[in-house]
Amino acid sequence: MARITAGVATSHVPAIGAALDNGKASEPYWAPVFAGYDFAKQWIAAEKPDVVIVVYNDHASAFSLELIPTFALGCAAEFAPADEGWGPRPVPVVQGHPELAWHLAQSLILDEFDMTIVNRMDVDHGLTVPLSLMFGQPEAWPCKIIPLAVNVVQYPPPTGHRCLNLGKAIRRAVESFPEDLKVMIIGTGGMSHQLQGPRAGLINREFDTAFLDRLVDDPAGQAAVPHIDYVREAGSEGIELVMWLIMRGALDEKVREVRRFYHVPASNTAVGHLILENG
Ligand SMILES: [Fe+2]
Repeated sequence: MARITAGVATSHVPAIGAALDNGKASEPYWAPVFAGYDFAKQWIAAEKPDVVIVVYNDHASAFSLELIPTFALGCAAEFAPADEGWGPRPVPVVQGHPELAWHLAQSLILDEFDMTIVNRMDVDHGLTVPLSLMFGQPEAWPCKIIPLAVNVVQYPPPTGHRCLNLGKAIRRAVESFPEDLKVMIIGTGGMSHQLQGPRAGLINREFDTAFLDRLVDDPAGQAAVPHIDYVREAGSEGIELVMWLIMRGALDEKVREVRRFYHVPASNTAVGHLILENG
């Protein structure tokens, strides 16, 4: 039987990818950010997941305002890095796991979550920056990846409650897959940030810290927080944090927090990162 052993949360700031790709990771501005992920790199190298489900949002790379799926599940055999305007990031092509992905699609849809099945999808920094933070710069990513793209760009995004319940359904789906696979789930995006308007550059450490605490210890309470609270307190792009609830829903009620990292600033955002283990 496949099982979910752990969940990871991390910001997916595009400038982090650019810093790594352009050899700036050891510069004074960036060194503390990358140092914050040294633990994660060692941890995941020791844990060796077979498959990682990456919950992220597309930034008008694979989708546009012409087509806005709320939950898009990548069922392809591979996913190419997207051209985000400066060309694709120089990272390996992402290898999927079509058998598990199609099983997830079947299980989730029959469980009344209306997933969009995607058989061709380029993946942008929302997915590749977390992979770089967890795995560094390998020749090939060391495990299979199933992308789950969530709409948090065009209103209305899914509610926190819906995201938490989707995570629970993902767990049921994974645990009904007969092959013996070690699966992890990464929730990406956040933390507080706003990219435009008079409040551009907004960072709210107090909100971010409370969010991290509640995500670990009271996910149902956090799931009840309405969108407007995220927008007001964490900025217009802080709404990305609802995706972390999908990761959290896939884990046990009680989890072990084995790593927490918070850093301000990276580009114009706060960076947050958690590693949570089951059982
Ligand atoms: Fe984003």
